[in-house]
Amino acid sequence: MSRAVASRYQPVLVALHWLLALMIIGLLCIGFFVLADMPNTDPKKLGILMLHMAGGMSVFALMILRLIIRIASTRPNTATGVPRLDRLALIAHYCLYLLVFLMIASGYSTGIIAGLNRIVFAHSGEPLPSDFDVFPTFQAHSFLAVLLAILIAVHIAAAFYHQFMLKDGLFRRMWFGKRTITPSEK
Ligand code: HEM
Repeated sequence: MSRAVASRYQPVLVALHWLLALMIIGLLCIGFFVLADMPNTDPKKLGILMLHMAGGMSVFALMILRLIIRIASTRPNTATGVPRLDRLALIAHYCLYLLVFLMIASGYSTGIIAGLNRIVFAHSGEPLPSDFDVFPTFQAHSFLAVLLAILIAVHIAAAFYHQFMLKDGLFRRMWFGKRTITPSEK
């Protein structure tokens, strides 16, 4: 089957990749380093939770947009490196998408079960639940966050391996610049 191949990703996709990377790493940092140690009685917690939850839902909207553009646009060929690891890399990329969606689903359901839509966004004046750990959805959110952080670290290490050890110009494909599209037999 013939499929066109691009020299770089579509520019909106490039912008979304880096924006989402910043947002997801930011959400992980706010979660692990700010929210996790903050008592639910701290008055500053509502504002930070609002930021975290709104950020998480924005990631959801942008991920959907990214998937649509990814499917509709011409992409570069799949990057190849160490043959035995290529299949693993493909699985890891699907796992990244899956984990992000599971983070959003578990965070969103925790928000609904704990009444955070009323407390955080509608300013109902009710107190926050004393501890989120009692909600199984939050236990999942917490566990998945660790898996996601590990997978992001592996993803970054693999990208650097391609760029600096294999010297295959991987970063160029995920950056802005002149983009050529050529038909290819595949
Ligand atoms: C990619 C998206 C997201 C990431 C990476 C993320 C990450 C995190 C992390 C790392 C924590 C701390 C976990 C811990 O204490 O062990 C956390 C806590 C939390 N997240 Fe998310 N989250 C995301 C999306 C969401 C969404 C969409 C919501 C709700 C709409 C949400 C609601 C919460 C809540 C309620 C907490 C508990 C805060 C606390 O510890 O007191 N998250 N999140």
